[in-house]
Amino acid sequence: AIDSIFADEILDSRGNPTVEVTVTLADGTCASAAVPSGASTGEFEAVELRDGDVARYGGKGVLGALSNVNGPIAEALVGLSVDDQRYIDRTLINLDGTGSKSRLGANAILGASLVCAKAAALTCGLPLFRYLGGTNAHVLPVPMFNGGKHAHGGPDMQEFKLVPLGAPTFREALRYGSETYHALATVLAEQAAPANVGDEGGFVPKLPSNAAAMDAIMRAIERAGYRPGEDIAIGLDPAASSFYDGEHYRLERDGKVLSTPDMIAYWEDWLSRYPIISLEDPLADSDWSGFAALTTRLGKRVQVVGDDLFVTNREFLRRGIREGCCNSILIKLNQIGTVTETLDTARLALSSAYACLVSHRSGETEDTSIADLAVALNCGQIKSGAPARGERVAKYNRLLAIERMLGDQAIYAGREAFGHLRQE
Ligand code: PGA
Ligand code: ZN
Repeated sequence: AIDSIFADEILDSRGNPTVEVTVTLADGTCASAAVPSGASTGEFEAVELRDGDVARYGGKGVLGALSNVNGPIAEALVGLSVDDQRYIDRTLINLDGTGSKSRLGANAILGASLVCAKAAALTCGLPLFRYLGGTNAHVLPVPMFNGGKHAHGGPDMQEFKLVPLGAPTFREALRYGSETYHALATVLAEQAAPANVGDEGGFVPKLPSNAAAMDAIMRAIERAGYRPGEDIAIGLDPAASSFYDGEHYRLERDGKVLSTPDMIAYWEDWLSRYPIISLEDPLADSDWSGFAALTTRLGKRVQVVGDDLFVTNREFLRRGIREGCCNSILIKLNQIGTVTETLDTARLALSSAYACLVSHRSGETEDTSIADLAVALNCGQIKSGAPARGERVAKYNRLLAIERMLGDQAIYAGREAFGHLRQE
């Protein structure tokens, strides 16, 4: 049973405060969980509670969220059986009482929810992936090494991702990614394209057009000795809401102002020029009919992923399934706020032939739970940033450990992660 629960304010990878929750069980087991934070947050995400007191951390303090954990949440959870995750999460949801988790804060609630899963796994003597996923959890995800625009001066599109789907194992996929990442640094240096590094560890070069970024990535893949499309494919997260003005898509780097049909044609053109396997938020998150049109048109050729569109919310995903929007979903624990709701959304996706891509946030911590979550779901895909920077690499290193632990039973998802695309 849960003996005590306690929250502290720690820093995330951007140097902003976030919530860390520690739980102690009656048997002495102790676990901690830390909560990540997004920058380009979807409009309908669960709401993280920030103090707004500009005298502390520019208003970003989380002391209010801490007192919600240390007060009402602790009061509700102490004494409960820690392995009853569904009941714990239901208790948290009811205690908050809002649809958006804005009263107690999604950061307070997720911290409490996740730490219970971690403590329960520990007390059962199981690794988290096995506790959450059961005895059949054995698929190592294809890593999507993303970098992009979470820094100034880069392309219009938020993220470009290296997707080493042709590697034989996760360990090799990590090597493909790291080698190509370093090759990309060389390619950019040769082009005298000074590159900033973004929040997720990726390069943010100043280039004349968006296509120039794709060309640099293609060259880097080849320079590292890999075949574009065969060994390493490319994923994109343009986060199109960020350049949509309510009517048009404004691609500043290309000097283009596009309607929804023009934007779809733009992506279709890119699909014919580059080995793009995954396209996340290619349209604005208000453009449901555009998503349906794009999925009809391109959904057999490319993974169309809803991130800002679905915000890991089962009701939004249901609407997407009904209206034919996307064929995949991004899964972020803190978009919805509890472990149970995250698992429910992922299961609905997988049972509806949508792929799931477990994801970090741009503000991260050293917490590696998403690595375990990806294996628990056997979903075959994870996005955790560039193969550089401690908080990103911590997840990849955890996956190395899981692969080692599983030994012969480990399967690298590889190309099969994209089996939902019936490619001609
Ligand atoms: P965020 O961005 O974590 O800042 O929301 C990541 C994404 O859009 O996938
Ligand atoms: Zn996204």
